[in-house]
Amino acid sequence: MIRTAAILFACGTATLALAAGEEFTIDMPPEGSVSRAAGLEAWDRIYEVTSHPRCSNCHVGEDNIPLWSGPSYGGTMPHGMNVNGGESRIGAEYVPCQACHAYREEGANDAPHMAPQVAETWALAPVETQWLGKSSTEICAQLRDPERNLGHDLMGLAEHIQHSALVQWGWTPGGGREPAPYSVQEHIDDLLIWGVAGFPCATDEE
Ligand code: HEC
Ligand code: HEC
Repeated sequence: MIRTAAILFACGTATLALAAGEEFTIDMPPEGSVSRAAGLEAWDRIYEVTSHPRCSNCHVGEDNIPLWSGPSYGGTMPHGMNVNGGESRIGAEYVPCQACHAYREEGANDAPHMAPQVAETWALAPVETQWLGKSSTEICAQLRDPERNLGHDLMGLAEHIQHSALVQWGWTPGGGREPAPYSVQEHIDDLLIWGVAGFPCATDEE
């Protein structure tokens, strides 16, 4: 318990330190101002992000196993050391993710092959948000469905990207890993364009 308290304390301090450097804005386009075509173009960029290894390696299915994949890993492999998130998705049933991924200090992600860390509890994303191995239209249908996107409306999705240190790590992964495409701000803007266009997916009836 003492150890948990120490981690929580360290996390709280670091959140303040990181938040001071990075500001992202939510600038909602007016209702009716975005065409379906522009919404679909924004979706294609959103899919490039959600299917990128820096995001999909944590948004995995019910085997609960994070991936090590992408060019910097030289291929696609399950996370080493038999890591398994379990149904808890934080590894509570096995070795907790935090045993290796706990926040230590700013800059600790710069060295290659270190366990990445952010000022938030490291965990697999909930199983209903699986992106790994899913097609563009499958992820499109999931991300707009409050039953499977953790109850988020458009503002909630944008605010999650604005605030989540786990998500933002995908753009600043360090250690020679390729960052997710575009930027945090561009991804927020694309979500807003897609949402105001009515969350179109390519397979919808027009
Ligand atoms: C025994 C230590 C250890 C545990 C426990 C552990 N990890 Fe890791 N993890 C690492 C190390 C080390 C790396 C970096 C590997 C490298 O870059 O070669 C890593 C890298 C990762 C990455 C980066 C993949 C990428 O896209 O670059 C993810 C995601 C990840 N771990 C998820 C998890 C999750 C989720 C858990 C808990 C279910 C977990 N890890 C538990 C040591 C651990
Ligand atoms: C270290 C693991 C990890 C990585 C890497 C990660 N996520 Fe997640 N993601 C999570 C967790 C955990 C949640 C659940 C958060 C909660 O309960 O509030 C989540 C939830 C989400 C959600 C809300 C639910 C939904 O519909 O999916 C979005 C959106 C999201 N992540 C986007 C991203 C994006 C974009 C990236 C890459 C830039 C990314 N995530 C990378 C762990 C991760």
